[in-house]
Amino acid sequence: MLKENIFNLLLLTITISLVSCYSTKTNKTNLSTNIITPGAVWPDDDGNHIQAHGGGIIKVADTWYWFGEYRGKDVEKDYRYVGCYSSTDLVHWKFLNKIKFSAPDGVSPDGWILERPKVFYNEKSKKYVMYFHLDDKNYKLAEVGVAVSDKIDKGYQIVKHFRPFRNESRDIGQFIDDDGTAYLIYESRPTKGFFIASLTDDHLDVKENLSFIKERIEGGAIVFYEGLYYIIGSHLTGWNPNPNLYSSSKSLRGPWAVFKNVAPPETNTYSSQSTMLLKVKGRKNTTVLYLGDMWKPNEQWDSRYLWMPMEIGEGNLRLPPPRPFKIDVKDGASQIID
Ligand code: GAL
Repeated sequence: MLKENIFNLLLLTITISLVSCYSTKTNKTNLSTNIITPGAVWPDDDGNHIQAHGGGIIKVADTWYWFGEYRGKDVEKDYRYVGCYSSTDLVHWKFLNKIKFSAPDGVSPDGWILERPKVFYNEKSKKYVMYFHLDDKNYKLAEVGVAVSDKIDKGYQIVKHFRPFRNESRDIGQFIDDDGTAYLIYESRPTKGFFIASLTDDHLDVKENLSFIKERIEGGAIVFYEGLYYIIGSHLTGWNPNPNLYSSSKSLRGPWAVFKNVAPPETNTYSSQSTMLLKVKGRKNTTVLYLGDMWKPNEQWDSRYLWMPMEIGEGNLRLPPPRPFKIDVKDGASQIID
């Protein structure tokens, strides 16, 4: 009996320490040790939790730029903001700006939605082209907005908003192939699936729908790895996490393999939702990072990020249980810290 009690106590202690180890309240990504802790507060260079939710990352020269929904408490009601940060190691992020947008023509400022901003750099025009999910407060508009700037972190002007090929478009994702071609992934509810569309040479419009995937998935993201395209997305459960799914194909035109769970379904993707798959190609190795959001709908400013190196290859994609990790961007290798 005593033995059993001691055993139970031990079990409880282990469980509590494991839970508190991953508690999103106490942990911070440790900037001095370069350790990224999934789900922890992630301070920028000013010490503020990074505001780049539903985000996307692009690399220009040797610098990564992280864009996402800026949901800090310091926002004004009728405006929407895109957080923009830069980093050369993916751990330390410099806050560059919160880019302020007012509702574009024809859209009521009352509760308007700007979500999941993604920026493409256009080599020819030397312009930065931002796509985002534009909606009214009831999510009935279902459009993409396009904003353009000469500078990466400021000066964006909304130049148009539309439904790609007249399809409803809600969550969007971005993919830039190894040859630099830019693609937009967009979820379209009435068609019960999502599209992968290439962008025009100036990046200002959609050019062609390459695939329509009849799987009701949002938060879509793609990575190309060792000859295969991998796509990931979540079910449609709003801010609540669910078991995210993935598939793979030799071509963006498909055919796509049957969708499978990326993590044990009971974990609901470790309480996160996909937003991007980031390929970090170093001199020797390549790491594919899962970038997910752990939404807190009532305290959006405190929503967390679940980043984690993925297990990937031969058509399989697995999100391992979140653990603190390091990434060496020069070498391309990542290391789980136990
Ligand atoms: C989610 C979507 C988020 C946001 C949310 C609103 O499904 O991924 O970007 O739109 O719904 O409920």
